[in-house]
Amino acid sequence: MVAVSRLIVRPSGPLQGEVTIGGAKNSALKLMAATLVAPGRHLLRNVPDIADVHTMSELLEAIGCTVRRREDDAIEIIRPEEVTPEAPADLVARMRASTAVLGPLLASAGRVRLPLPGGDDFGARPVDMHLTALEELGVTHEVVDGVIEARVDQLHGGECKLDYPSVGATENILMAAVRADGETTILNAAQEPEIWDLAAFLNRMGAHILGAGSRTITVTGVGELRAVEHSVIPDRIEAATYLAALGAAGGTITLRGADAGQLGVLIERLGSMGIRVAPEPGGLWATCEGRPRATDLQTLPYPGLATDHLPMLVAVLASADGTSFATENVFTGRFGYVAELARMGADISVEGHHLVVRGVDRLQGAEVRALDIRAGAAMVVAGLGAEGETVVTDAHHVDRGYAGFVEQLCGLGADVRRAVG
Ligand code: UD1
Repeated sequence: MVAVSRLIVRPSGPLQGEVTIGGAKNSALKLMAATLVAPGRHLLRNVPDIADVHTMSELLEAIGCTVRRREDDAIEIIRPEEVTPEAPADLVARMRASTAVLGPLLASAGRVRLPLPGGDDFGARPVDMHLTALEELGVTHEVVDGVIEARVDQLHGGECKLDYPSVGATENILMAAVRADGETTILNAAQEPEIWDLAAFLNRMGAHILGAGSRTITVTGVGELRAVEHSVIPDRIEAATYLAALGAAGGTITLRGADAGQLGVLIERLGSMGIRVAPEPGGLWATCEGRPRATDLQTLPYPGLATDHLPMLVAVLASADGTSFATENVFTGRFGYVAELARMGADISVEGHHLVVRGVDRLQGAEVRALDIRAGAAMVVAGLGAEGETVVTDAHHVDRGYAGFVEQLCGLGADVRRAVG
């Protein structure tokens, strides 16, 4: 049962102060799944305390692991010798990243039962590329009553050529290939920082992965892997969210722990909007004076602008000076939040996977829905710059991806509070 909660946002004037960027949700979830490839006690540090991590903990427990969160942002995962390679349907329905157990369970148990993940508010999200690639490693599968039943006697190396550099498919192949007989090559692999982090974690366990972060990754399978400790990389989407909040409200902030190296295109695009961002030791410094300028944005696989950054940036452009054009190339059905911004007076037309954003002088507070994690964050960003009160309903979506969101924003002087019930 999810508690009904709303976020109430009021204008506060310029933001000032510091936020701390936690571990990357999209990396932490995959590293947690990756612990399934090696028995023993793993320790993951810098794991954000967010709902999706709780869901992944429940999933690992259902599979047979013991998961314990420590006070210092670390999670200890004990993977037993024997696991139950079945993912409960309610957990997969709650979080699509549950599909990350596919590869590691095939590696450790030789079989897996995984309910097909449903679509969500930004369109169908199939797993066909994951399955086709795993077939190259000897996996067979059938779908029975909406459940993928996959099995393999012994994984063997193969050549996996992805039609598109899918993050999830690259991760599943990596987590299976580390235990395969022989060499696997992933062509057109995803290059996202989360891939480097996963490869680093698996290599620490004893895997032989070369080329992570480039288009071609080579994995030489090994017979055994061991449990290890690892620290999750910083969350580039959380960082982008606070930078967008700065764009909407103005001010000067520091993002402690943010990694400029993962944010190149974002920093350049923010620059074109008049938002200055500079790396400093241990984080980023950013400032925004006056009204942001219109710009053009297009999402692409890394190192391009992340699809997860776009909703928050569009929320800023909605009241920027001039007309912006934005193109979503990764999830083409991801514009549900545009209708919510329109409730606040935004003037945005959707043309296929393009947006034309005509900046209005100021958005007006309204009741809007958080359709997913980033759409919800975008509504909060919009509310920070709007006149009057913005009420963001279905705030549980936002809680899936942000630790202490309200507290961190209040720490910058924003007027945001949560109402439950
Ligand atoms: C991950 C991230 C998500 C991010 C996305 C792109 C997690 C939990 N989620 O999602 O936040 O927005 O990367 O950076 O890490 N596709 C297929 N068939 C497949 C797999 C994907 O058609 O088998 C399509 C998808 O529908 C989408 C595109 O490929 O259009 C990219 O998806 P992918 O890179 O796989 O994203 P996810 O791993 O699902």
